[in-house]
Amino acid sequence: MLNINEIRKDFLILNTFVHGKPLVYLDNAATTQKPRSVIEAVQHYYAGENANIHRGIHQLSHAATKKYENVRDKIKNFVHAEKTEEIVFVRGATEAINLVAQTYGRSQVGEGDEILVSHMEHHSNIVPWQMLCEKKGAVLKVIPINDAGEIILEEYEELISPRTKIVSVTHMSNALGTINPIKEIIKTAHDKGVPVLVDGAQAVSHMSVDVQDLDCDFYVFSAHKMFGPTGIGVLYGKKELMEKMPPYQGGGDMILSVTFEKTKYHDLPHKFEAGTPAIASVMGLGAAVDYIHNVGLDNVAKYEEELLHYATEKLLKIPHLRMIGTSQNKAGVLSFVMEGIHPHDVGTILDKEGIAVRAGHHCAQPVMDRFQVPATSRASLALYNTRKEIDLLAQGLLKVLNVFK
Ligand code: ALA
Repeated sequence: MLNINEIRKDFLILNTFVHGKPLVYLDNAATTQKPRSVIEAVQHYYAGENANIHRGIHQLSHAATKKYENVRDKIKNFVHAEKTEEIVFVRGATEAINLVAQTYGRSQVGEGDEILVSHMEHHSNIVPWQMLCEKKGAVLKVIPINDAGEIILEEYEELISPRTKIVSVTHMSNALGTINPIKEIIKTAHDKGVPVLVDGAQAVSHMSVDVQDLDCDFYVFSAHKMFGPTGIGVLYGKKELMEKMPPYQGGGDMILSVTFEKTKYHDLPHKFEAGTPAIASVMGLGAAVDYIHNVGLDNVAKYEEELLHYATEKLLKIPHLRMIGTSQNKAGVLSFVMEGIHPHDVGTILDKEGIAVRAGHHCAQPVMDRFQVPATSRASLALYNTRKEIDLLAQGLLKVLNVFK
């Protein structure tokens, strides 16, 4: 069982006031708040440990290198990877997908080849593949979704062809909340010899992930959606695949030797980490993993499932409200439209009540097109949200109706 009152004390920002009202933070799919331990880890690094890594012979540099590499180990355990070198630090899920599209894509995808994404993807899991397709003359194919916002598995299977080079799908939709049957999706692709990238940006703070059990080839996520800092994230990739991929960016730390005639690249994971990385943010990510570990993701999943159920029931009682994304298998996201009221107006009125939700297309315009709406309002949950906050959201939505109806 989670002790929410204790948990809330770890997130100082939750005590702030917005427009004179206590903050009700329901925009966790955009970014989660940071517990004290994460903020302190970043501060501590700069205040007492700051040095560049992998380069110095002095004590501070050794210590920083050790801590940085320790976090890599923590991430390995967090996603249950087999090998530490399968964990690459990147700027976030977006950079991780660009890395795979540019390196796996550059070396493996040719004219007429196909890349498969689903209709519920975030732009970050569409545009990098489109850019690759444009360059290579490859074709982007789209797995359709049904009215509940679920991948249509039969159609998915039929879309995999001998030309399919990779399937890239989200574990959990940021715009709909749907949790995809990712293990099944991976198995279907593997049965036809096709590798799978899973965008875990939304999933990792809501459920435990075991990349070996899933057998995914790549798994990507961002620290800032799991209580860590912005600007840092992770690419997990199977060693045998990543070893064959050319480097992404060139620079310091990714080389073994450089001459003007020839450069020898470093081994994994350093081959993909050119330049001085976001060391302090990695320290913060390490603290975020510790935080999640202490709370227990299974406890989080259970708590949030109950809260989502409570919130869904509550919101569905609001007149003129239509939920977008009604899969039975979803987590932490309530995307909705209110008949005749623009989502930005909903968001603005809620903001005046101190309630932070996101309004817009959520970087998933094709999802909006699929449901024939320009945008939605989206309340997204995290482990520190409460039933009381959901009640305030519902009251806020009734005020919206009073203004417009
Ligand atoms: N991808 C983030 C969201 O869903 C920013 O809001």
